[in-house]
Amino acid sequence: MTPDLSVNFAGIPLKNPVIAASGTFGYGIEFEDVVHLDRLGGFVVKGLSREPMTGNPPPRLYETAAGMLNAIGLQNIGARAFVDEKLPKLRELKNIVVFANVFGYTREDYERTLQILNEGEGIAAYELNVSCPNTAHGGIQFGSDPRSLDEVVTLARRNTRRPLIVKLSPNVTSIAQMARVAEEAGADAISLVNTFIATAIDPETRKPRIANVTAGLSGPAIKPIAVRMVYDAAKAVKIPIIGMGGISTAADIIEFMLAGATAIQIGTASYWDPVATEKIVAELETWCGEHGVDRVASLTGGLVME
Ligand SMILES: Cc1cc2nc3c(=O)[nH]c(=O)nc-3n(C[C@H](O)[C@H](O)[C@H](O)COP(=O)(O)O)c2cc1C
Repeated sequence: MTPDLSVNFAGIPLKNPVIAASGTFGYGIEFEDVVHLDRLGGFVVKGLSREPMTGNPPPRLYETAAGMLNAIGLQNIGARAFVDEKLPKLRELKNIVVFANVFGYTREDYERTLQILNEGEGIAAYELNVSCPNTAHGGIQFGSDPRSLDEVVTLARRNTRRPLIVKLSPNVTSIAQMARVAEEAGADAISLVNTFIATAIDPETRKPRIANVTAGLSGPAIKPIAVRMVYDAAKAVKIPIIGMGGISTAADIIEFMLAGATAIQIGTASYWDPVATEKIVAELETWCGEHGVDRVASLTGGLVME
């Protein structure tokens, strides 16, 4: 019997729990010739802002032991160009689920970006990236200050009827607290983790490996911390969770689901294998078949303690 890979995520039916992560899958359309987009549970497009952004100067990527540093600087075409140029092409594709990732530097940025995106057809849900510095409040990240997080999620909730996923920053002391703040402010779901703030220095030149000096660490190096954070968040809230951070095999997906995730995302793995997302769906089906798992959804929160 073929295992049932479908999951229901915050009211959105997904054919499987595998979603391509924001910033690692372009606007989806660029992957059309590489991946069968309709085989994925869904994909999250590159973070969209109110105005187009050029991002940081190079070097912006650096490979570390079992991971990757990036300081792309949220380069994107802007919400308006996404609605006018990318969404119509995505709408021609059948049987796909598109999530729009949204970020801003002020509360007004989030509000305006959502208002523009609300005009577009074919967005299943928003994923709110709260990991950018809030320039109106002296640079602290929205996602690392409970009050700022509450404000931005409350505002976003007021500006859309579409499902709202809040993507939490892992650069906090208590992920459980931040998860609860997002839930109470009206989030339909949370996703975690975003990248860990990190850096690397070249001992020969004594210069930073990344022009921006600090960057976000992703990939297998962060996986055990990400699984722990999903576990902590799942105990703290009732809303569903998308887990991510270093997933590259079907067994990694199972780990995140047992910790409490309903669906998962794959980011950095697409950098070393552009077909990683699709391959892992096939691998997940085989894994479930071999382990007698009829319904992948039954794994969520199934950690065995005794
Ligand atoms: C190059 C790159 C760009 C990213 N851009 C975004 C982004 O625009 N918005 C966002 O919310 N997360 C962004 N992320 C974070 C990923 O979506 C994901 O949360 C993180 O990389 C952890 O998953 P992974 O270890 O599977 O890559 C980016 C990650 C990478 C590597």
